[in-house]
Amino acid sequence: MVKVSVTNLAGQTRMIEAEEGLSLMENIRNNDFDDLAAICGGCCSCCTCHVYVGGDKYADLPAMEDDEQYLLEDSDHYRDGSSRLSCQIEVDGSMDGLAVTIAPEA
Ligand code: FES
Repeated sequence: MVKVSVTNLAGQTRMIEAEEGLSLMENIRNNDFDDLAAICGGCCSCCTCHVYVGGDKYADLPAMEDDEQYLLEDSDHYRDGSSRLSCQIEVDGSMDGLAVTIAPEA
């Protein structure tokens, strides 16, 4: 299991035990964070799984594909160097200690 800190829209933070091989979005949803709507189910077409990645872990994440980048840059809440779509990140052991904050919906 991979420990990930998740902060919801109300600013409440909870540590979850994320399952490797599932997306970060699935892990956040499986831990009852309803603020993350993820309405397209992980098809990279809705931007409602947007999170901000804290600290220096952002640079270590797998690179973004173009479609993720385009969706994020269309969001009013996009932050360069922090924003990611959590459905596009498959959790692995290197992500232990990751801290993410759920972004407001676009
Ligand atoms: S769940 Fe829709 S883009 Fe991630």
